[in-house]
Amino acid sequence: MVLKESDRAAQDRWLVPALSNVLPADLSTTEGEIMNLEGRKVVVTGGSRGLGLGLVEALVHRRAHVTVVARGAAALQAVRDRLKVDVLQADITDDSSARDVLTRTSPDVLVLNAGSKPRMGSLDEISWEDFSAPWNTDVKAGLLWMQAALTLPMNPGARVLVGSSGAVNGSPLSGGYGGAKRMLWLMAKYANTVSAARKLDLRFQVLVPMQIIGGTGVGDEAAGAYARAYGVSPQEFLARFGAPLLPRDFGDQVVTMLTDAAYENALAVGLKGDTGISVLEEFAA
Ligand SMILES: NC(=O)c1ccc[n+]([C@@H]2O[C@H](COP(=O)([O-])OP(=O)(O)OC[C@H]3O[C@@H](n4cnc5c(N)ncnc54)[C@H](OP(=O)(O)O)[C@@H]3O)[C@@H](O)[C@H]2O)c1
Repeated sequence: MVLKESDRAAQDRWLVPALSNVLPADLSTTEGEIMNLEGRKVVVTGGSRGLGLGLVEALVHRRAHVTVVARGAAALQAVRDRLKVDVLQADITDDSSARDVLTRTSPDVLVLNAGSKPRMGSLDEISWEDFSAPWNTDVKAGLLWMQAALTLPMNPGARVLVGSSGAVNGSPLSGGYGGAKRMLWLMAKYANTVSAARKLDLRFQVLVPMQIIGGTGVGDEAAGAYARAYGVSPQEFLARFGAPLLPRDFGDQVVTMLTDAAYENALAVGLKGDTGISVLEEFAA
């Protein structure tokens, strides 16, 4: 969209909300459960392993109709056979994958979970190529999938959850990872602004795991690098976060966030093993 210089109304509509953030107009606060997941269509990118798989398990437990998106055929087949979910083989960074998947599935909830393993290295050693890798995968995919959600558009009332780990405290050995994830948080806010301006009734919310999670691809990569830097074992390093957040715990917390009215107005939530769900940022009233 091109804004004319003289169009004050358009400037107000686009710039002012972007500086605060926008509460989707027709989402009123209710007590108790705001979304019953039974029979709801949910797409989880990266649901074949790690955190995404834990979320798929939690969603299946709540009788949601889940579609898992990932590249590797063997892991997709394994999750399809074990959990009786639908699977779609796609690379989230392909230009057409988001539109194709959303057109085929028409989901009520889209979870943008998949992300690349960060290339580890301290700031004084890391190359630009390694530093910028999360931007060319996670942020690129975020742009493509949020654009598809807004332009198809997804059905009114649909929710899009955007993974944004490392966005609060950063991750000093992960190059541009923390910044890339923070960008995804900002992009979710921008997406809410577009949705409100176009009266799409979509809600973009941000998930921020507040610890590194062992037994996952990204978690083990990061824990190994930090453990080496501190001269401890990966297990000792992970224990510093307190209670572990297992992938299924992550999934159960995301399900709570989707269904409990307490998180209806949360733009961003933190997820942690020992303290549970905390609201990091609310939609502006
Ligand atoms: N693990 C942690 O400690 C931690 C903490 C906070 C947040 N996170 C975030 O949570 C997300 C998942 O992390 P994880 O540790 O669970 O990762 P993981 O175990 O490596 O699993 C990644 C999943 O994403 C899929 N995937 C990766 N790249 C893809 C692509 N280009 N297109 C389609 N699917 C793709 C993988 O399947 P294929 O490779 O077969 O495509 C797999 O299903 C990431 O965004 C990560 O940054 C992780």
